Amino acid sequence: MTVRSRRRRVIVLASGDGSNLQALIDSCETGTVEAEITGVISHTPGAHALERARSAGIPAFCVPITNRKDPYSRKRHEEVLLETLKALKPDIAVLAGWMLVLSRKFLGNCHFPILNVHPALLSVEGMPLDIPVLKGAHAVRDALELNLPYTGVSIHLVTEEVDGGPVLLREHVEIVPGDDEISLYARLKPVEHRLLISAMRSFVNSQLTPRTPQPTLH
Ligand code: GRF
Repeated sequence: MTVRSRRRRVIVLASGDGSNLQALIDSCETGTVEAEITGVISHTPGAHALERARSAGIPAFCVPITNRKDPYSRKRHEEVLLETLKALKPDIAVLAGWMLVLSRKFLGNCHFPILNVHPALLSVEGMPLDIPVLKGAHAVRDALELNLPYTGVSIHLVTEEVDGGPVLLREHVEIVPGDDEISLYARLKPVEHRLLISAMRSFVNSQLTPRTPQPTLH
């Protein structure tokens, strides 16, 4: 008798437009990714990502932060976030436009892998880049300001080092003369969507369990 394993539960943390979330929703609906998004959490009330979740019939939660500069407020926010996240029993979580750094304590309490989508090329050991590694929230703007010939997209595992966890997938995207943030983002986003789906397919197919060594895909 074949025992069919249940679909993996994915929670998406998204506080922006939610285009990566939408790509994931669509790929779960078509079966490209054999997983189920069982919740979407945002820290921004009114985020379009929440709207996309509701339209797809996915439970959407807003966990707003009172004052992101106040350590107590950050701590309290992470407590509520962790409670909300754990109640959804994720097999994996995806940060797709989550604009808050997660603390070491928080990550230590998440016994499931967390993926992040980053709009720049991050370091991979043994595969050096001939451009600077752009971390942080302004990587697209920084790439333009530095006049780089190309930038890219990375999908990586989240660790306590911001944008520093193991890279699973990355892909170059050329910067062309006249590019601004809007035009460059317009070319980066489809790459983000494709790589995210590809990474999710690998996770789902690898029978990943908490603490299982992570697959290296790049
Ligand atoms: C993406 O560009 C991702 O790289 C960054 O946040 C953005 C989210 O975009 N971390 P969207 O809300 O999924 O469209």
